[in-house]
Amino acid sequence: MNTNYLLAIESSCDDTSAAVIVDGQVLSNIVSVQTAHASYGGVVPELASREHQLHIVPVVAAALKEAGITKEDLTGIAFTKGPGLLGSLIVGVTFAKSMALSLGIPLIDVHHMHAHVLAHMAEKPYPSFPFLCLTVSGGHTQIIKVTAPLQMEILGETIDDAAGEAFDKTGKMLGLPYPAGPLVDKHARQGQAIYPFTRSKVGGLDFSFSGLKTSVLYFLRDRMKTDPEFINKELDNICASVQTTIIDMLMHKLEKAAKETGILQIAIAGGVSANSGLRAALEARAAELGWTAHIPAFQYCRDNAAMIGVAGYYKFLEGQFVGQEVTAEARMEF
Ligand code: KG4
Ligand code: ZN
Repeated sequence: MNTNYLLAIESSCDDTSAAVIVDGQVLSNIVSVQTAHASYGGVVPELASREHQLHIVPVVAAALKEAGITKEDLTGIAFTKGPGLLGSLIVGVTFAKSMALSLGIPLIDVHHMHAHVLAHMAEKPYPSFPFLCLTVSGGHTQIIKVTAPLQMEILGETIDDAAGEAFDKTGKMLGLPYPAGPLVDKHARQGQAIYPFTRSKVGGLDFSFSGLKTSVLYFLRDRMKTDPEFINKELDNICASVQTTIIDMLMHKLEKAAKETGILQIAIAGGVSANSGLRAALEARAAELGWTAHIPAFQYCRDNAAMIGVAGYYKFLEGQFVGQEVTAEARMEF
């Protein structure tokens, strides 16, 4: 079989990323992180698409250079079709289409959330099938049953905010810049989980984080009334309390899913899987319950094009290509 060189492009939110994947193995994975949003408390869609336009060409050039190949070596282009911010996605989709057209090579569309799961196939040891994947990002919180690289189903998901959003929004209340998740994690490591926050009781394998958000809001409002320095003095303990609450809710449903399905291969994915407390909680539960835990390397947790390329590779093997009529989709069926 001839060598398969895929260029992969990811631009669904605020990071511009390009990767080169050779026969399913990652040769390069370049991510340009946008800092323009920090002071706004969230991603500003128009700023994000402008930044993607600025970065896409140099990021792709850097990915090809690091892989030691030229664009003429490419045998296909994989890109994120959705879900995500439309203006951001359009930059990546249009770039991928133009490049595939000019090189006369096939296009492969990838679902962003499938790719987060398949990030586990970027590095060995791969999980064996079937495995469960808790995918936790800024826009999604899902428990997925994965039976084959291209066969997966959602067993449960959030009915309101995503776990990453819960980190970012509570962090914002504490005065932390966007994205607050990594900063909450940092402060939590120096604090104790001494404050009780609401844990949702939503049924089945679904999640809800909006109650936690409201409970933190009221808690801070009450404490700040009597002590305006409360957040400054107690930041570490508040962060530890918020983080522990989120992790407990995630782990509770993950354990329930493992019990119900009898599956012992357990993975986490998405930006929040970089959280030190969640990684430690998974390791600890795995040791107690006989699970094999799969925790991605940090570069494959957050949004990155390598995961798009790995997912694209499995679609390439199945001949699942799309034509030039493909468009970006802000919302997409799983
Ligand atoms: O997967 P991702 O990079 O982008 C989306 O597809 O949303 O996830 C971003 C989310 C943000 O909400 C960010 O705050 C969160 O992941 N995040 C973290 C950590 N690192 C990133 N949340 C908690 N602890 C972390 N260490
Ligand atoms: Zn993502």
